[in-house]
Amino acid sequence: MSVYLDNAATSFPKPEEVYQAVIHAMREVGASPGRGGHHRSLEAGRIMFMAREAVARLFSIADSSRIIFTHNATGALNLALHGTLKPGDHVITTSMEHNSLLRPLHALGRDGVDVTIVDAGPEGLVDPDQIARFVRKDTRMIAVGHISNVCGAIQPIDRISAICHKAGAMFLMDAAQSAGYINIDVVSSGIDLLAAPGHKGLLGPPGTGLLYVAPHIELKPIFEGGTGTSSTSLEQPLMMPDGYEAGTHNLPGIAGLKAGIEFILDRGIDTIFQHEHSLVNQAARLLGLLPGVKIYGPGDPESRGAVLSFNVEGVDASLLAAELDHGFDIAVRAGLHCAPLAHRTIGTLPGGTLRMSPGWSSTSEEIAFFSDAVVQCVGKIKESM
Ligand code: ALA
Repeated sequence: MSVYLDNAATSFPKPEEVYQAVIHAMREVGASPGRGGHHRSLEAGRIMFMAREAVARLFSIADSSRIIFTHNATGALNLALHGTLKPGDHVITTSMEHNSLLRPLHALGRDGVDVTIVDAGPEGLVDPDQIARFVRKDTRMIAVGHISNVCGAIQPIDRISAICHKAGAMFLMDAAQSAGYINIDVVSSGIDLLAAPGHKGLLGPPGTGLLYVAPHIELKPIFEGGTGTSSTSLEQPLMMPDGYEAGTHNLPGIAGLKAGIEFILDRGIDTIFQHEHSLVNQAARLLGLLPGVKIYGPGDPESRGAVLSFNVEGVDASLLAAELDHGFDIAVRAGLHCAPLAHRTIGTLPGGTLRMSPGWSSTSEEIAFFSDAVVQCVGKIKESM
C-alpha cells in the first residue's frame, strides 16, 4: 500500500478530471488567452472565464472579475499585502501564521508598516478579544490564516472579521488550508481579501493560486507587463483582473484548477469536509492510544481541520517521518512547516511536529495502516537507540 498523507503541502492524487483538463489545455487548446483573435485563444479565454466563475460559485463571490489568478497562495498574499499597505499603516496578525504571510509583513515592517503579532493560545486558537485589544485608530488590516497548517486549529474568522470591520480595517484571510476543505462565504464572513492556493484543497495543479479582492478595496499591481489590453499605454492598466495578471497565464494549471473546483462543487464541500474530518478524528483516536504520543491543536474536534500534528516522546519527528516513508511508503511531513511562530505558540520548537493530512481520496483503512506503521517505526527507532 502507498499512502499519501501530506495534502496540507499539496493535494495528491488529483481527481481524474483534473489530469484530463491539463492535457486538454496543452494538447487541444494550446494557445494563450487574451493574446490573439483566433479560435484557440478564444477557447483559452473561455476556460479562464469559466475557471473564475467556478471560484466565484465556491466562495459566493458576486463578480468573478474580482478574482486574480496567481502562482500560489504566497503570490496572492504578497499581492494583497504589498498592493494595499503603505508606510504608517498598522496591521494585526497572529502567531499561528505561515511565513508566506509573516515574511512579506516583516519586509513591509522595514518600510514603515507597523505589525502587531497577537499570540494564540497553546492549542493554536486565536482569541478574538485579544485581537480587539490591539486595534488602534491607524489599524488598516487584520490578516489571519483560517486553518493552521501546523495543528489544524480553525480560527473564529467571523468574530475576527466583525472586529476588523468595526475598526474600519480590511480583513485578509489566508485560506491556504481551508479553501476546498471547508465552506467559505466571502460575504457572510466579511472577507475583503481572500488568498488561496489552487494546488491544495482546490485540487488543481501546482503553480496555481488566487486572490479575491472585494469591490471596495483599492489594489496596486505589484508587477507590470503585458496584459493583452490597453497596449498603447506604458501605464499598467488597473482593470480587474487583467492588470494584475501581467504575462502569459498558466492555462493548463488554471484549466486543471477549474476541473478541481467543479469536482468539489459536484461532490459538495460539506461531504468532503466531513470525510476528512472523520479521518483526522480516527487518527487522533488511534494515535491517542499509543504510549508517549502527544497530539497538538484544539482538544475539541469541532475546532480542528484536516491536519493533525503529533510527537512521540523521545523520538525525533523527522526520523519517524523517514521511517514511515522508507519502511511503509507513507508520505507525511515533519519539522516546522514554514510556521516557526506557530511552533513557539504550541511549544514544539525546535524540532517541530510530525504532521499527517488526509485528502478527499484518503480512506479509513489507510489511517489504520498509518497508525500501525507509527507503532512499528517507533519500536524500531527505540530499539536502535
Ligand atoms: N504550506 C505548506 C505546508 O504546510 C507547504 O506544508
